[in-house]
Amino acid sequence: MALTIEALIIELTEQLAAADLFYGHGSDNPADEAAELVFFAAGLRHEQAPACYGDVVDDAVISKVRALVQRRINERLPAAYLTQRMWFAGHEFYVDERVLVPRSPIAELIHAQFEPWLQLNRVRRVLDIGTGSGCIAIACALAFPEAQVDAADISPDALQVTQINIERHQLTQRMRAVPSDVFSGVPDQRYDLIVSNPPYVSHAEMDDLPTEYLREPELGLRAGVDGLDIVRRILAEAEAHLQPQGLLVVEVGDSEVALAEAYPAVPFVWLDFEYGGGGVFVLTAAQLVEHRAALAAGMAR
Ligand SMILES: C[S@@+](CC[C@H](N)C(=O)[O-])C[C@H]1O[C@@H](n2cnc3c(N)ncnc32)[C@H](O)[C@@H]1O
Repeated sequence: MALTIEALIIELTEQLAAADLFYGHGSDNPADEAAELVFFAAGLRHEQAPACYGDVVDDAVISKVRALVQRRINERLPAAYLTQRMWFAGHEFYVDERVLVPRSPIAELIHAQFEPWLQLNRVRRVLDIGTGSGCIAIACALAFPEAQVDAADISPDALQVTQINIERHQLTQRMRAVPSDVFSGVPDQRYDLIVSNPPYVSHAEMDDLPTEYLREPELGLRAGVDGLDIVRRILAEAEAHLQPQGLLVVEVGDSEVALAEAYPAVPFVWLDFEYGGGGVFVLTAAQLVEHRAALAAGMAR
């Protein structure tokens, strides 16, 4: 019997829902994942919904998408690794298992050009530390069309994916994929904006992660006893890389509590997000100067 797009999505939603999967990679429910897998397999764009729901799906597409759903269930692979694509801040990115699946709430800040926090007429230079797919760096480059953007990561594998996305977005004139252990690859460079979604999962939290997260590179997640290994280094070194009116924006997720306890004197501003997520703070360059001693001491815990 002929199967429509809508009927196929319903069938696959039921299969996914029965499989006790975890949803944390860009969707939070089986219906959205089923729809993405069907649209991907059928070569449809999401803007074609709902007009295409009544279309009959051909057998090759049905076989392809059923196989993808089986892999999603059997291997607990995030759907984005099956489709090798993910949207972030309204832009599409290539992804594979060399990088984390983009999902940072920082997308909302980029969309707002970091207002009201970034009080600059022109953003000339941006640094993204731990860039992975390059999603944050590239979305910044698109939000600030005059800016030069450095996309830094310690992982050569991740930087290959960054480079693919820089080229796909035709940003090779304004962007660099930079091998860098935190700031090591950008000595003597200063930026208007430093943004980072670094690894911030503690050893204890790593043990409890759903299997889907273990499909992602551990280097992108694990960050020591309290999840702050990389964040401490960013805090200690950021001042030397920011312009006087610059801004530091860092995501630390659930390590927000540990960070506030580790630096009780530092006035982190924790941001609210309309579309979910949290654990993102901003600090101005002036605040980094004012709290230099405490931020340096934080390295010697
Ligand atoms: C949580 S992922 C974020 C990826 C991407 N920015 C995003 O939001 O999807 C963290 C990234 O930091 C990188 N990383 C880990 N340790 C690092 C270090 N010491 N210096 C620079 N990057 C590092 C990892 O390779 C990974 O790509």
